[in-house]
Amino acid sequence: MIILEDVHFAYDGLYTALQGISLQINDGERIAIMGSNGAGKTTLVKHLNGLLRPDNGRVIFDGVDTKHYSVAELARDIGLVMQNPDHQLFLDSVEREILFSLENLGYQKEEAKERCERTLASLGLAGFSERSPFTLSGGERKRVALATVLATEPRVISLDEPTIGQDARQKENLARMLCALNDKGKTVIVVTHDIEFVTENFPRTVAMANGMIVADGPTNSVLSNDAVIEQCSLTRPQLTETARQLHKVFPDVPQRLTLMDDLEEAVVKIMGGA
Ligand SMILES: Nc1ncnc2c1ncn2[C@@H]1O[C@H](COP(=O)(O)OP(=O)(O)OP(=O)(O)O)[C@@H](O)[C@H]1O
Ligand SMILES: [Mg+2]
Repeated sequence: MIILEDVHFAYDGLYTALQGISLQINDGERIAIMGSNGAGKTTLVKHLNGLLRPDNGRVIFDGVDTKHYSVAELARDIGLVMQNPDHQLFLDSVEREILFSLENLGYQKEEAKERCERTLASLGLAGFSERSPFTLSGGERKRVALATVLATEPRVISLDEPTIGQDARQKENLARMLCALNDKGKTVIVVTHDIEFVTENFPRTVAMANGMIVADGPTNSVLSNDAVIEQCSLTRPQLTETARQLHKVFPDVPQRLTLMDDLEEAVVKIMGGA
């Protein structure tokens, strides 16, 4: 379990990015962090694995203040896929990149190689082992950065804007992988502007603005709250928009919907079905 207790952070002591974040992330949760540009989302996730340390407040992992752990120690349990893959990739082949993170965590060569192949295949990157990350497309590069973390299967997987540059098939594939890891008990934390990715895959949403949490709860209620949508510069999910339009004609259709099943149920009802 990760607990953030009243975390404050300013870059260079000058540029305020987090202003009193308190948050509890339970083992095995799937949680999305959303909010406007500059809201502090990246700053927040960098506090989870120790890349940044709070100016005030505490980050507690399994009951221990993370100030007692180095970044390398935290990396065993808490993986972070960075927003910009250029900050994550620095070697001259895809395979070396992934083996490097596995061997850093103590995996033996044989198992590391096997994990590497498996992860590349599952991310649609089979046959990319020998390629230089610098020659890949933006979407492929992002997936290599994902692979370096997913291959190590940390207990907590945090991903900063993982769907950027991914086509529909890759996005679906990524969602499936994250749900499968979650089924194995991993905690999955995603920072994203992709509202449909959130409504379809993440039961809990934390909405941020100006370095603060403005809403935290079931995705359905957070993302159908007009004040939150406005404050966090989000666009309403298309499904919610459809429900709102239908509601004007059929008041029995609830306005606050984010799930297809709920919309279907409401439509069946107004059509006089069971
Ligand atoms: N290295 C830095 N030095 C100074 N200020 C920074 C630095 N990195 C971020 N900031 C500032 O901290 C605030 C929070 O930035 P952060 O990157 O956490 O936002 P974000 O929510 O991830 O935004 P985005 O959606 O654009 O990725 C912003 O005001 C930003 O300008
Ligand atoms: Mg960011």
